[in-house]
Amino acid sequence: MLRLTCLAVGLLLGGINGQITQFNRIDCYPQPGANQQTCQSRGCIWDSNFDSSHPTVPLCYLPTGTGYTGANGAPGTYILTKKAGSFVNPYGADSGHVIVSSQLIGKTLNVRFVDQSFTNRYEPPIGIPKNPSTSSSNDVLQFNPVNVGNQNLFSFTVTRASKGPNFWDTSIGGLIFSDKYIQIATLLPSQSIYGFGEAIHPSIKHDFSRYTTWAMFARDEAPDSASALDTKNLYGVHPFYICVESDGKAHGVFILNSNAQEVTTGMAPHLIYRTIGGMLDLYFFPGPTPEEVVNQYLALIGTPMLPAYWSLGFQLCRWGYQSLQDIQAAVGRTQAAGIPLDVVFSDIDYMNHDEDFTTGSAFAGLSQYVDQLHAQGLHVTLIFDPAIEVDYDTFQRGLNTGARFIEWPASYPVPSTNSLYPMTANTKIMLGAVWPDRHTAFPDFLDENITQGESSSATDKWWAGEFTLYHSKIAFDGIWIDMNEPSNFGTNQASTGHEGIAPLACPLTGSNNALDSPPFQTQAVYLFGNGNYLSTKTLCMLGKTGGGKYNFYDTKSLYGWSEARATQKALNTATGKRGVVISRSTFPSAGRYTGHWLGDNTARWEDLRTSVIGAMEFNFFGIPYVGSDICGFIGSPTEELCLRWQQMGAFHPFSRNHNIAGTPPQDPAMWPSVAAAAKKALLFRYHYLPHLYSLHYDATLYGHTVLRPLFFEFPSDSATLTLDKQFLWGSAFLITPVLTQGANSVDGYFPSGVNNDEVWYSIYDFNYAQATPPGPNQLPAPVTSMIPVHVRGGYILPRQAPATTTTAAKTNPFELLVAIKGVRGAGTAQGQLYWDDGEASPSAVDGTYNYYKWNFAYSETPMGAQLTLQRVNTVNGMSVPTLDIIELFGYKFSPSFQSFALDGNPLTLDMSSSFYNASVNQAYIKATNLIDLTKLNSGTPSVLSWRHTLM
Ligand SMILES: *[C@@H]1O[C@H](CO)[C@@H](O)[C@H](O)[C@H]1NC(C)=O
Ligand SMILES: *[C@@H]1O[C@H](CO)[C@@H](O)[C@H](O)[C@H]1NC(C)=O
Repeated sequence: MLRLTCLAVGLLLGGINGQITQFNRIDCYPQPGANQQTCQSRGCIWDSNFDSSHPTVPLCYLPTGTGYTGANGAPGTYILTKKAGSFVNPYGADSGHVIVSSQLIGKTLNVRFVDQSFTNRYEPPIGIPKNPSTSSSNDVLQFNPVNVGNQNLFSFTVTRASKGPNFWDTSIGGLIFSDKYIQIATLLPSQSIYGFGEAIHPSIKHDFSRYTTWAMFARDEAPDSASALDTKNLYGVHPFYICVESDGKAHGVFILNSNAQEVTTGMAPHLIYRTIGGMLDLYFFPGPTPEEVVNQYLALIGTPMLPAYWSLGFQLCRWGYQSLQDIQAAVGRTQAAGIPLDVVFSDIDYMNHDEDFTTGSAFAGLSQYVDQLHAQGLHVTLIFDPAIEVDYDTFQRGLNTGARFIEWPASYPVPSTNSLYPMTANTKIMLGAVWPDRHTAFPDFLDENITQGESSSATDKWWAGEFTLYHSKIAFDGIWIDMNEPSNFGTNQASTGHEGIAPLACPLTGSNNALDSPPFQTQAVYLFGNGNYLSTKTLCMLGKTGGGKYNFYDTKSLYGWSEARATQKALNTATGKRGVVISRSTFPSAGRYTGHWLGDNTARWEDLRTSVIGAMEFNFFGIPYVGSDICGFIGSPTEELCLRWQQMGAFHPFSRNHNIAGTPPQDPAMWPSVAAAAKKALLFRYHYLPHLYSLHYDATLYGHTVLRPLFFEFPSDSATLTLDKQFLWGSAFLITPVLTQGANSVDGYFPSGVNNDEVWYSIYDFNYAQATPPGPNQLPAPVTSMIPVHVRGGYILPRQAPATTTTAAKTNPFELLVAIKGVRGAGTAQGQLYWDDGEASPSAVDGTYNYYKWNFAYSETPMGAQLTLQRVNTVNGMSVPTLDIIELFGYKFSPSFQSFALDGNPLTLDMSSSFYNASVNQAYIKATNLIDLTKLNSGTPSVLSWRHTLM
């Protein structure tokens, strides 16, 4: 066991023993209202010299010597004892004893701080798998505790055994533990920090030229991309970041906590983490590549669900369809314009008075229309909100079957509102008001009442039952869950906005206010100004969840997570298929159950830009099925903005145009130019869907990202560390969207790689098949062309000729695009394809998929090329289209079309389509039924070979 050592001399920068400068401070007054008097009354230091060139520097800061002294506890643990000092915790009594322990989970290091003074500390009940992680490096992470300085203050570092930078170094001081205020601060090894959410980040890399505090508490809050900086918390919570160190190695850190929390990034660079409940449960991921950091994170929290194949098609939605005819008109316009379309949505319009599982009279023909869409190969996703009106059969069935709803505590007097409804009159159910006309109850999806022989709680069973019943009327395929922060109208206000519906009032003062008015409320309250509380726009913090086991104060940010888990089960039960769920609120591991859209954005260029960043961040968070509302939700887009958004959005896994009520339609067929651009971009997307689907398989099986920024692939190229306007599908497919008004061209960056041998081939309108010079490039991008897309040499991408539905495209023959890396004598490329029926549930996890690997190589002696095709996994009886086309880029030989053979058996090509273009080194090989993929060798790969001559 490690013995705690004492370093008598403070070698370390910052608070414990070093000097406190403007740039390594820990804010001692992290709420509004700091002045000399309030600051000093806490025993903190007040700096009266405001520096206008560094206006974010905290003026009230913690003195040195704030923290704990460590001693050895039980083997592998340390006991921290509060150190006397000038600072007096204003947020409650300090914990007398904090126990620190560490353990390895595979390559992941877990460090836990649990305070013993407060019994039964809450931990998020999310049952994450915690699978051991792996790494390409043999290095092992080390937890190094130490007492430092004259004051013997406990701190720790996390390092690799091979040394290198400290991931964390808490010698900066500032450790505080109390029941409703926990704080830890650390120095960071680099400023290249990415992640933390859900928030609008103006750049993908955090900005360490200032102090910035990001709130994290699930909230129904629309993103604001137009402000220079808006640090408000949005719908979900993701306390996870990735750091790229100075040599390009990466690591990551996750803090498992679901209370209201916040993180400050400071200039040292350092970060300060604060939470108002639970404990410090820290996970360090060693990388050493950014992609491995995500793999390691997802081994811990669980890998994402596999979306149904159809959900990779284009989706059309709006709020404000007045009737079924409005939906039919929008769908009709889209189809008439030849724009690919797979999924038709309805927002709450289709419901009868906004009640879940009902159909309004203006949508009476919805059932027949859904059947018609199915016959055309399309699918339907409907919205369902969690809040259930308390006076109709859905709610009655919930009560009858033991479903639980969020409740007042047993001892709390129930408001008179409950007596307005026969079904709630003698219950403790906490009533709110959302879209329905009358009061609503909020299902308690953390209910753990699982009776013998069941796999679901009574609440989840009721929820699934309601979907099943409704599915027997309207055969929807996907479920969209909204308002699940959960959102409530009018909490603590005079009105709910509904005629005659009393709002929910929480105990903000008085003897029951401990949870609703805690001493420190986080920026999730302070950023919104006076009159805001943790319960604003939601339920009261003293509410009970988990069938009475938990406080809503602790579990609020898990509401969307828990609803997503229940809803995925409900979808599978109701449809018997995989389908797809998308959720507004998410929490770590929500990706196992749901995708996400980036919320109620606005039709502005700024929102188009931040959606590129947001989609990459949700890939860090293990929710790769993500996209923004194309053309913007709030407001009306200009024709040009909508066109550029359709072009960019065609490359987000979740690709949906969506619009707010009361604005003109903005579906792409509304403008001929947008229709043409959308058609072109989506047909292009559909051509490469087998590649996109295979990336989702890799995400589900191994915890990979689907979308990623360039620094994920080239972390040692420092130019990539700030790039957030381009993104990749996997490793090899680079999208350079146009994000500015009036552009005819766009700047992109094409990394040359550590060996200076990367090649990026254009696959869009300009210079097709040709390599783009490495480095920064300006590329033509008029509105009449596609946005630039390039494929990276060394990769083989599977594709299929597109169609206007995925259902039709999925039956077309396969093609392989072979993008060769290397020159003369050593050209190679490789790739893979996962294939299944696209909607069977479950899939992936139980191996019911076909998996192929391809490898291309050529040689000059003897002169020839080989494409090995390996059938790694097949499912008997599953139909797999034939491979008919092989296109090669960077191929500097003239192929002998008569010499093609599969495992030595000659093949006849279609010479009216096959060609070699020497001026661009492109070969195109085609024959109907060229290769039957179901008949390939499974052990030793099959070999497609041919001869060629040097050009
Ligand atoms: C547990 O669920 C069953 C139905 O599955 C129900 O009858 C019972 O009342 C529930 N118990 C509690 C404590 O909610
Ligand atoms: C070869 O490719 C170039 C560039 O795309 C094109 O201009 C030319 O027409 C092609 N040649 C043939 C024979 O197809």
